Amino acid sequence: MHTRTLGQGLEVSAIGLGAMGMSMSYGPNPGDRDDMIGVLRHAIDHGTTFIDTAEVYGPFVNEELVGEAIAPVREQVVLATKFGFDVSSGSMGGTDSRPATIRAAVEGSLRRLKVDAIDLLYQHRVDPDVPIEDVAGTVGELIAEGKARHFGLSEPGVATLRRAHGVTPVTAVQNEYSLWTRDPEAEILPACRELGIGLVPFSPLGKGFFTGTVKPGDTFGSGEIRANVPRFSEANLAANYGLVEHVTALAESKGGTPAQVALAWLLAQDARIVPIPGTRKRERIDENAGATALALSADEVADLDGIVDRLGVAGDRYNETLMRSVGRDAAERSTS
Ligand SMILES: NC(=O)c1ccc[n+]([C@@H]2O[C@H](COP(=O)([O-])OP(=O)(O)OC[C@H]3O[C@@H](n4cnc5c(N)ncnc54)[C@H](OP(=O)(O)O)[C@@H]3O)[C@@H](O)[C@H]2O)c1
Repeated sequence: MHTRTLGQGLEVSAIGLGAMGMSMSYGPNPGDRDDMIGVLRHAIDHGTTFIDTAEVYGPFVNEELVGEAIAPVREQVVLATKFGFDVSSGSMGGTDSRPATIRAAVEGSLRRLKVDAIDLLYQHRVDPDVPIEDVAGTVGELIAEGKARHFGLSEPGVATLRRAHGVTPVTAVQNEYSLWTRDPEAEILPACRELGIGLVPFSPLGKGFFTGTVKPGDTFGSGEIRANVPRFSEANLAANYGLVEHVTALAESKGGTPAQVALAWLLAQDARIVPIPGTRKRERIDENAGATALALSADEVADLDGIVDRLGVAGDRYNETLMRSVGRDAAERSTS
């Protein structure tokens, strides 16, 4: 697979792999732990070398899984992880990006990932109580100490992104971005272009929606993230299904799959965009990687650009509580 360059010259495979679903969010796993290690190694062996995890996935167990999978092939992998949620109770709490918490999280991540340095260290969500200058400063120190190599932010407000970048250069912003979640186009993507920062779309397949495998009438178990996402409610799923039918028709006309069209559309938006689809199946790793070979014409991209305006999206991308945690800004640094 060819590579793309995020900010600060960080070169990664043009499609990455999100490992979250191997430990949480998407219901019962189709395989055991060894199977998931096999899926991760299959991805790396076939050129998908940008792997995404986080302290909070599990929590902890996803990093352990990734650490075991990459151990024999560490040098081939660009490894991204995230700090910033309070995991002290053993589950996901509120945000906590105090410098001491960041340092403790990084020590834990290094141990579980079995690496000396984290290639790309993201703040998972902006902590409204901690000035971003303190967060960026702490990550800058960790970079100077050799424990991290690059700095990223997930779902920041644009003012926070600019302030962070002024302290420690940001390599990538990781935001939800897909055919039905276009929020980054208003402010974050233009700011990334201006500052030379990469954009890593998470949930690039719309949490599986744009693969065509989620059908109207499908229901989701209580452990599944989609059970709490308004877009996947029974009524909204039915209302939104026209979007997938449109993408599927285009995919068929090009000899590709809907997932490949959804990813190719993201790749076409900017040269510094690197989606990280999540899957637990080898054949889907190969399918998703194949999006890099599916060239969309300018007319096809424009047609997809207009799809939401024409067909609309019913329901938010997150429930009310989670919506409050995205796109927000950090506290101002006190001058007293
Ligand atoms: N920064 C953040 O706050 C944040 C939030 C969410 C996610 N993420 C990251 O982004 C990654 C990807 O996001 P995501 O997993 O939420 O959503 P996604 O990649 O949009 O969709 C994942 C879903 O699509 C299915 N799928 C994947 N490829 C497929 C294909 N070719 N055909 C049919 N189905 C396919 C997967 O099922 P199978 O597993 O069964 O294949 C899974 O149900 C995560 O793993 C995580 O690393 C970050």
